[in-house]
Amino acid sequence: MKILLIGSGAREHALARSLAADPLTTSLVVAPGNPGTARIAANVTNTDVDANSPDAVAALAQELQADLVVVGPEAPLVAGVADAVRAAGIPVFGPNGDAATLEGSKAFAKDVMAAANVPTAMAHVCRTMDEVTEALDAFGPPYVVKDDGLAAGKGVVVTEDRQAALDHAAACVNRDRRSSVVIEEYLDGPEISLFCLADGERVVPLAPAQDFKRLADGDAGPNTGGMGAYSPLPWAPEGLVDDVVERVALPTVQELARRGTPFVGLLYCGLALTSRGLRVVEFNARFGDPETQVVLARLESSLAAALHAAATGTLDQLPDLRWTSDAAVTVVLAASGYPGQVRQGDVITGVEAAEDLPGVHVLHAGTATDDGGALVAAGGRVLSVVGLGEDIAAARSAAYAGVERISLDGGQFRTDIAAQV
Ligand code: AMP
Ligand code: GLY
Repeated sequence: MKILLIGSGAREHALARSLAADPLTTSLVVAPGNPGTARIAANVTNTDVDANSPDAVAALAQELQADLVVVGPEAPLVAGVADAVRAAGIPVFGPNGDAATLEGSKAFAKDVMAAANVPTAMAHVCRTMDEVTEALDAFGPPYVVKDDGLAAGKGVVVTEDRQAALDHAAACVNRDRRSSVVIEEYLDGPEISLFCLADGERVVPLAPAQDFKRLADGDAGPNTGGMGAYSPLPWAPEGLVDDVVERVALPTVQELARRGTPFVGLLYCGLALTSRGLRVVEFNARFGDPETQVVLARLESSLAAALHAAATGTLDQLPDLRWTSDAAVTVVLAASGYPGQVRQGDVITGVEAAEDLPGVHVLHAGTATDDGGALVAAGGRVLSVVGLGEDIAAARSAAYAGVERISLDGGQFRTDIAAQV
């Protein structure tokens, strides 16, 4: 299978690494890719493309005669990249723009969940500050205020501070005439991420994971795209995955099919296990980052076969997925300033030394090679260091041993990823 993978983060490096090791893959082109994906194997190459241009991606897929296109990030999906590839007759793992609205608009997601009877937080979609004040009063603290657009996991403010809630809401509501903000009931309890492959009608769950969204140890600091993750979840209640499939993923996919906008790709279910039961916190229309780094590290079956089955509407013919019993932990190394204005250009050393350790591999995200050939920071989240081990504690030790060998001036990482498991 000739595969074209769109994106350039650590999630795409993880996807590329698994696809490259897959006997079904004859060649893999990553567009635009990163310095990590450029070094995977002889049959993997990076190609430049405007990832958010439907025409450019469809043209590249045709030129490569790709058998499968896999779209990593949300922005190309919302821009209609999958629509264009599908229209060109090429199987694509990733929903069309209208189905990706499940991630692109929180108000749309709430509407789909209401129609499909999927449990989620009560919410008000507000367009004026009067509506915001009323909704904040109705729910009380802690306040949950969500930008209604795509915000890379950073548009949500959860706070006890009413003024901070009002300020964030005002920034969202006042952006333009059509903007809105979602005010929600606060959900208590642990959060999990369950990825489901969807073929428009059916879903196949992957292994569950947990992500650490806040920047600093002890879940302090601002929300980020994710600072670390682990899988499996030894503490998860029996039947959790089946429950999520039956009560969340399948009804959502069926509702989208009923609306004539079938969801083909990765349905990311972000869930809270609250004192009152399971609730959806968010949907994403793509693999999560950094959860993908740990989920794929544990997948033993063919990823290419699974993604191709979803893309071609044949998940019913996919053999059961096999997983290693080993655990995986990933720790994200972010640049100075993340999640705000990041400093770029700091030199990174020690990646190879980290990978010399047993059970450790390093995935690139915001990295670049400078004129002298040195690896430098070029984005917010710079690297994902992944450790595998026989249990979470062993995987965690491996990941942190890897992090210790890497040096990045001003680099930030959490020291408590998977510490309490
Ligand atoms: P979202 O972009 O909707 O995933 O929100 C980002 C993060 O904010 C989530 O992963 C949660 O940690 C937190 N969050 C979102 N909604 C709620 C809620 N209703 N109650 C508590 N925390 C929330
Ligand atoms: N790790 C959270 C996300 O990918 O949205």
